[in-house]
Amino acid sequence: FGDRELVLVSNREPYVHERDDDGISVARPAGGLTSALDPMMASTGGTWVAWGSGDGDEEMSDENGCVRVPPESPSYELKRVALSEEQVTNYYYGYSNQVLWPLCHSDIAKMTPKPEFWRHYREANERFADAIRERVDPSEAVVWFQDYHFALAPRLIRESAPDAFCMQFWHIPWPSWDVFRSCPEHDELLDGLLANDLLGFHTDRYCRNFLDCASKALGADVNRETGVIRYDGRTVRVESFPLGIDAVERRRLAGSAEADEAWESLRDAYPLGAERLALGVDRLDYTKGIEQRLTALERLWEERPEWRGRVTYVQKASESRSRINDYQRVQATVTGEIERINERFGTDAWRPIVYIDDRLSTAELAALYREADVGLVSSLRDGMNLVAKEFVASQVDDPGVLVLSELVGAHEELGEAAMTVHPNDAEAFTDGIERALTMDRPERSNRMTQLQAEVEENDIEAWKNDVLRHAGEVLNRKRRAD
Ligand code: G6P
Repeated sequence: FGDRELVLVSNREPYVHERDDDGISVARPAGGLTSALDPMMASTGGTWVAWGSGDGDEEMSDENGCVRVPPESPSYELKRVALSEEQVTNYYYGYSNQVLWPLCHSDIAKMTPKPEFWRHYREANERFADAIRERVDPSEAVVWFQDYHFALAPRLIRESAPDAFCMQFWHIPWPSWDVFRSCPEHDELLDGLLANDLLGFHTDRYCRNFLDCASKALGADVNRETGVIRYDGRTVRVESFPLGIDAVERRRLAGSAEADEAWESLRDAYPLGAERLALGVDRLDYTKGIEQRLTALERLWEERPEWRGRVTYVQKASESRSRINDYQRVQATVTGEIERINERFGTDAWRPIVYIDDRLSTAELAALYREADVGLVSSLRDGMNLVAKEFVASQVDDPGVLVLSELVGAHEELGEAAMTVHPNDAEAFTDGIERALTMDRPERSNRMTQLQAEVEENDIEAWKNDVLRHAGEVLNRKRRAD
């Protein structure tokens, strides 16, 4: 970007300082966005602007809200934006997670629009735009927005700095126009996003849906071949960039002595002694299809009793967005169902489902991924799903099988070598799990080699280079046009 400084903007911060009995400790939040982008920022440098959500954040930051991270080897600046309780309630829990999240996951019955949600969403976008301007002159920077929390901020930056270079990556699906039109603010959202110079999604399908919405709602001039939109006298490029992970680091960690030790301590803490392990790792979200997964597993133990006592399913769960009713309901259903299934089939010697909601270290998670014979990803909609890729990258021993919902973004890349299932087809889902459990080693090995090649080739580094190369092209074209 020449001398332009990179400013990345996301709602969730990569490091949260929290107070506890021993003082202040630092935590990494669950969720694909921060875990994927932190290594990228660590290698690129620049500033990351995010909501300072931890109760120890303020104390650990300077007078401008800034702290250098990663804590163990600082290489970029994290600028925290303080939000009031009212803003958090209405912008984060409200508009972002009770309107845009269900909308983009095509679950419109869960949308609960309220005027105060929208008002605060607008104000929070202004607040973040101010924070960006406190840090840099946007005309001399590359401002990279992440996700659905900031559909309006690009327009706000553009209004004050017409020469700014803005880009945005949308980490969740983009729905069809027929779904998107259920949102009363569709025009404002699209207008805000079209103030970017480059707009990225995980898959071509989401790009096509977006182009369709821009054309139908705003009458924008859309070229479906090139992904170029002409709108309001400007050009916006829409492109797919499937997000990857730091596959080399995941593989290293899975094969490390640390992971060996972590596995020993996990085995002491939980009943993980069954012959086979299946694993699911999720934020407790209604889009993840956890209930459907439990149904498929229950059918397995019910109809094929030879699997009782032989396979344990580990559900690693992270509580998420718990103030929202729909999330409380998922938590209650998942824990209730697990208890019921364990009571139904469990014995003194065997617990069918081991539920882990404690925070795990990266080494413990790596050990679980490595030891699992089957990785289960059953989302009903999911922008990408990086858990699928993390499972694959961590399979350094006897190769396991990835059972993957056809409804997640990652299926576009991994669908061929994974065991594809439809989460709502309970019978076929159960069959898929059983096939995964009985697959012979040559086939497992063959599939896993393909999956690993895919995940390693299209890793976070490749993603970053691809996005930055496109951004460079768009920026050069813009310079030539001036
Ligand atoms: C998804 C979203 C991210 C979000 C993450 C965790 O991956 O795309 O923007 O950070 O979920 O959700 P939370 O609401 O806790 O940030």
